[in-house]
Amino acid sequence: MIAAPPVPSPLVGEAESRSDPQKGGEVAPCAPSLVATTTRADSLALLRRAFAEAGIDTPELDARVLLAASLNINAAEIAARPNVALGPAGAERLAGFARRRLARESVGRILDRREFWGLAFDLSPETLEPRPDTETVVETALSFVSDRRAPLRILDLGTGSGCLLVALLHELSHATGVGLDLSPGALATARRNAAHNGVADRAAFLASDWTAALCGRFDLIVANPPYIAFGDLAGLAPEVRLHDPAAALDGGGDGLAAYHIIFAGVRDLLAPGGMLIVEIGSTQEQGITRLAEVKGLKVIKVAQDLAGRLRAVALKPNGRQELALGSGTPI
Ligand SMILES: C[S@@+](CC[C@H](N)C(=O)[O-])C[C@H]1O[C@@H](n2cnc3c(N)ncnc32)[C@H](O)[C@@H]1O
Repeated sequence: MIAAPPVPSPLVGEAESRSDPQKGGEVAPCAPSLVATTTRADSLALLRRAFAEAGIDTPELDARVLLAASLNINAAEIAARPNVALGPAGAERLAGFARRRLARESVGRILDRREFWGLAFDLSPETLEPRPDTETVVETALSFVSDRRAPLRILDLGTGSGCLLVALLHELSHATGVGLDLSPGALATARRNAAHNGVADRAAFLASDWTAALCGRFDLIVANPPYIAFGDLAGLAPEVRLHDPAAALDGGGDGLAAYHIIFAGVRDLLAPGGMLIVEIGSTQEQGITRLAEVKGLKVIKVAQDLAGRLRAVALKPNGRQELALGSGTPI
């Protein structure tokens, strides 16, 4: 879970705090003043300072990425010619980006794109911004596949931007898959992402309340459901709490509400040898294991993310043999 950063302190000098009525009284510091004649180097320094004073974790990086994006240039060009002025259009764009970052939109959300599994994903207001932690689900799913050219069938429950399904289809060249979400806006974005990443011909997208609208059998079912306990939502970092969709976060009283429904629905959807891989909150392993037992599933593997937190759990129906996917042989 992403910890809440310190409360932003008001900027001194050219900027002061203000209330943003859009955010229900949240206080956002004003952006530093940038004009057409401000140089790239000066704008970097202004943004870096404003972001640092606002309590943003990575002020230098964020300032550089937003400056480059506002001018449509790369980091090397900034380094090579730091004394070039922003110009009117660049200054206006960068000031807009800075205001949004100070209102705690993430850089990814401001630029409407995010990298996941080395692929580029568009975002929209209805999609969660994909997190590096979630790549653990992809790694775990792939660890059960012995033949990457097998015609596996994949189901991604709560597909959001489509990141899990698209990443898996990208790795598994003969697989096909269904991405499912309750949000039509998320599904439209996921469809676009499948197309941008060259897997649209092997992906279908479906509006459904979890497994309700589904039939058929799948070799790999993946899900990163909303799993933040209701009482913890208020403590999330503002980038998440204010700007990720609530439907992607709220896991009910204990955070496990979606797993109850998903675990109950997947038994009939898993092909022989099929696996369910879910992302979990780092403290949820015991609750997930207990719930799985009640629902007739067995935990096969628990995987850690890069920070060493428990992040992905692989499950299969109790009493079924484990097969290496693609080979048909027991593992
Ligand atoms: C945590 S986000 C995960 C998005 C994406 N898979 C990822 O890993 O970045 C959970 C997703 O579940 C979807 N969702 C929430 N409730 C749902 C439901 N009842 N049925 C289907 N999808 C649902 C949300 O719209 C959201 O896209």
